[in-house]
Amino acid sequence: MNMNLAIMLIPFTTLFFFILRTCRSSDTIALHQNVSDGHDTVVSGNAKFELGFFSPGNSKNRYLGIWFKNTSPQTVVWVANRETPLTDNSGVVKLDNQGNLALVNGSGKVIWSSNSLASGANINLSAQLLDTGNLVIKNGNESIIWQSFDYPGDTYLPGMKLGKNFISGKEFYLTSWRSADDPSPGEYTLRYSIDKGKYLQLYIMRSSAIETRLGPYNGISFSGRPNITPDPTDPRYNMYMIVNQNETYYTYTSNSNDTTFLIRIVVTPGGKLGILQQKLPNREWIESVSLPVDYCDNYEVCGPYGSCNIATSPNCGCLKGFVLKKLNETSHDNDTNVCGRKVALDCGPKEGFLRFSSMKLPDTINAVFSDNMSLQDCEIACKKNCSCTAYANPNITTGSMGCLLWFRDLIDARVYSQNGQDFYVRLAASELSDIHRKKRVVMEVSFAIVSVLTLLGLLLAFYIRRKWKKRSELHGKDYIGSNTNQMGSVAVPLFSLSKISRATNDFSIDNKLGEGGFGPVYKGVLEGQEIAVKRLSKSSGQGLVEFENEVICIAKFQHRNLVKLLGYCVQGDEKMLIYEYMPNKSLDSFLFDESRKSLLDWSQRFQIIQGIARGLLYLHQDSRLRVVHRDLKAGNILLDHQMCPKISDFGLARMFKENESEANTRRVVGTLGYISPEYAANGLFSLKSDVFSFGVLVLEIVSGKKNRGFVHEDHDCNLLGHAWRLLKEGKLIDLIDECLRASFSACELSRSVHVALLCVQQRVEDRPNTPTVVGMLGGEGSLPSPKKPAFFIPESEMNSISNLPLISSSVNELTLSQVDCR
Ligand SMILES: *[C@@H]1O[C@H](CO)[C@@H](O)[C@H](O)[C@H]1NC(C)=O
Ligand SMILES: *[C@@H]1O[C@H](CO)[C@@H](O)[C@H](O)[C@H]1NC(C)=O
Ligand SMILES: *[C@@H]1O[C@H](CO)[C@@H](O)[C@H](O)[C@H]1NC(C)=O
Ligand SMILES: *[C@@H]1O[C@H](CO)[C@@H](O)[C@H](O)[C@H]1NC(C)=O
Ligand SMILES: *[C@@H]1O[C@H](CO)[C@@H](O)[C@H](O)[C@H]1NC(C)=O
Ligand SMILES: *[C@@H]1O[C@H](CO)[C@@H](O)[C@H](O)[C@H]1NC(C)=O
Ligand SMILES: *[C@@H]1O[C@H](CO)[C@@H](O)[C@H](O)[C@H]1NC(C)=O
Ligand SMILES: *[C@@H]1O[C@H](CO)[C@@H](O)[C@H](O)[C@H]1NC(C)=O
Ligand SMILES: *[C@@H]1O[C@H](CO)[C@@H](O)[C@H](O)[C@H]1NC(C)=O
Ligand SMILES: *[C@@H]1O[C@H](CO)[C@@H](O)[C@H](O)[C@H]1NC(C)=O
Ligand SMILES: *[C@@H]1O[C@H](CO)[C@@H](O)[C@H](O)[C@H]1NC(C)=O
Repeated sequence: MNMNLAIMLIPFTTLFFFILRTCRSSDTIALHQNVSDGHDTVVSGNAKFELGFFSPGNSKNRYLGIWFKNTSPQTVVWVANRETPLTDNSGVVKLDNQGNLALVNGSGKVIWSSNSLASGANINLSAQLLDTGNLVIKNGNESIIWQSFDYPGDTYLPGMKLGKNFISGKEFYLTSWRSADDPSPGEYTLRYSIDKGKYLQLYIMRSSAIETRLGPYNGISFSGRPNITPDPTDPRYNMYMIVNQNETYYTYTSNSNDTTFLIRIVVTPGGKLGILQQKLPNREWIESVSLPVDYCDNYEVCGPYGSCNIATSPNCGCLKGFVLKKLNETSHDNDTNVCGRKVALDCGPKEGFLRFSSMKLPDTINAVFSDNMSLQDCEIACKKNCSCTAYANPNITTGSMGCLLWFRDLIDARVYSQNGQDFYVRLAASELSDIHRKKRVVMEVSFAIVSVLTLLGLLLAFYIRRKWKKRSELHGKDYIGSNTNQMGSVAVPLFSLSKISRATNDFSIDNKLGEGGFGPVYKGVLEGQEIAVKRLSKSSGQGLVEFENEVICIAKFQHRNLVKLLGYCVQGDEKMLIYEYMPNKSLDSFLFDESRKSLLDWSQRFQIIQGIARGLLYLHQDSRLRVVHRDLKAGNILLDHQMCPKISDFGLARMFKENESEANTRRVVGTLGYISPEYAANGLFSLKSDVFSFGVLVLEIVSGKKNRGFVHEDHDCNLLGHAWRLLKEGKLIDLIDECLRASFSACELSRSVHVALLCVQQRVEDRPNTPTVVGMLGGEGSLPSPKKPAFFIPESEMNSISNLPLISSSVNELTLSQVDCR
């Protein structure tokens, strides 16, 4: 066999995939770099990737590599001869009859080879670039004898493993390029710390020094860096960690057959870890995460028993029960100050543990892991061993199974505002009672204040009631009783934890539907009915009785645009809400998915808008409780089988007490892109803040674009600003989602957008209230002109807008004249 065959293969294989095959046992196949030019030479390709020769950046050197097809600039994911470039345009790739793939330069020298050797007599060898970007050498029709995924470069692709194989001793990690022009191994690596029995952690390292620790794996993501993985709720990925006695690794797979869906994780020559996804139509790479992010991401910045908090100044402090101590009494250098125990341990029987919440777990290098211990066993085990300093359950997906025990110093902990984890630190008995006493004092003082306030409140209520009574006697009506009769008495079933656990397959990761602000949601089947179980995160700061009261109140909400609560479950720390299951998932899974958005036509979208408005009206006005939702967003609108919208997560904000002074309460915050200016700036939340979020939501439904992350080539406005500009320019129709262009009602569209713009006005007083919104959406009369939306645009942009020709200088004169609405 000779190169003729190889060249014949090329046009064919570019269309499908490349197979380099030795047809008879003694043949060698060769693929030549195209000698005539110095440009990239593709020797093979498939739908997503190409294999060929290229020169990176400004370099003249030539490398054999794999890159994403059709991306600009070229995005190389793997390089064979990283350290041994070809210096001219000659070069041949050969697969020999032993199963070795070699790169040979112009003088016939092998400058890189796979060093693979086929075993077995009936040799039938081939080399192939798979759709995953993996270059494999196969023996016969099954066994892979070599694959490029076992030799990661700077890029982590779906399907690759990062970790360690204990049998071969081989470790799989990423190494940065030296520079953009030079793919040889640079200073930075992304690797897992894994020794047998140790818990998996991810580090960015510079040579042998740790730069950033991403924290131990918590079952979904990395402790305290929850966004480091590609979005765990995105159905297009599966992520998992494999731990067994042979190997330990972390991998992610793409479930998507969509060839336009591309993702990569890369370590840059400058030591940044980036997660990038390709966005259509421009095929640009959008970086969703880049680490390290902040000061506290620097490894061990606050020393042993220190705790870094980006929200405080200075960022470094000591864990409770620890104080700064001079390491060296004779030195005046502040750098030698470290956190040490206020009271030394004596391993007495009264010693105990203090819980630290919403934290990044300390480095597990000094910790031991066992997966078959509950949190209670874990505490007992830690207490028994005098050198155990702390314990935790690292895996949030297992409930309270799994135990990490720390020995020696606790390093690199930090506080997070949300999504952190709990750990328990051993403290001396006197220290613990001190902390508890302080807590008690605080509680007693607050109790006293609350009592006085309650008393005043009661007096006031009594006074008002008497006044009302007088008035209602005058008018012959009973104002007090009038609200109660619309509520029937509803019994909410209480389910046992074991029942829910069985229904959801032990909260199996396969059953997980997503993760909301208040905790993960699982799918289950209970008594033949499909259910969704919301497992509330533990730090609600609420007692059992109050929780039950809330649940019963919320269960009384009956509206076709609210998700129905079927029951609840309270046991130990666990609090769960059981809802009806919505087969069509949430609105965002349609709106923002290129392949699914066309499933929602205009009339459905308009009905969804109206449905949400009615649901909100019920929450705000018609229900007895007057609930402010606080987190209205596309992800919280579920769709039933008829695409009828149902608001979910309502009333949850009531159940969670807000308390920022303690690290252990996860503050319930809204979602960026939906929160109103007064909430963002001052933390003020009212019914009108929900109205604001509703306005944003309507614009998203109409345009099929996320407010957050919205970019437009002509200006810097966000989606709100963009819609407002279009209104001013009389081109509201341009806002519509491209996939709806063929068929929609211009009248309904402009009405929706106009109402939305009224809802997102900067000043609370300017925004309509919910009944007005519902009325305006369904009505036909003319609407007031919206003022400039909140979070608008930079001043410079403002000027350029007011200079636009054909636009009246007075905003108030704008009308919807371009659309005739009858
Ligand atoms: C080499 O390049 C020439 C001209 O660019 C082209 O016609 C030819 O098909 C190429 N051969 C291979 C093997 O790519
Ligand atoms: C091929 O590689 C050898 C060894 O690395 C080197 O000495 C020689 O100059 C190279 N030949 C070409 C044409 O690059
Ligand atoms: C080699 O494998 C291919 C398919 O992978 C098969 O069609 C062919 O018959 C095999 N040849 C031998 C000699 O086993
Ligand atoms: C290889 O493929 C042939 C024909 O497709 C099949 O009979 C044989 O069992 C396969 N061998 C293995 C090891 O899978
Ligand atoms: C975390 O818990 C889940 C569910 O039990 C399990 O599948 C997974 O392997 C665990 N992860 C680790 C790292 O222990
Ligand atoms: C570990 O490797 C041994 C020998 O290779 C194999 O028998 C065993 O099934 C492997 N265990 C796991 C969990 O993969
Ligand atoms: C992708 O394609 C494979 C084979 O064609 C199919 O089995 C699988 O279900 C598809 N996956 C998705 C998510 O469409
Ligand atoms: C303490 O600091 C003094 C002065 O800086 C230095 O000479 C001495 O070696 C230090 N001792 C220790 C134990 O580090
Ligand atoms: C050490 O800290 C003190 C008080 O925080 C400060 O006044 C002093 O300048 C610091 N010394 C050095 C060497 O940084
Ligand atoms: C946990 O596993 C270890 C060994 O893997 C075993 O010795 C121990 O008895 C197990 N503990 C429980 C509570 O099952
Ligand atoms: C405490 O745990 C450490 C680490 O596992 C172990 O080496 C030591 O023997 C234990 N001590 C006791 C008293 O069990």
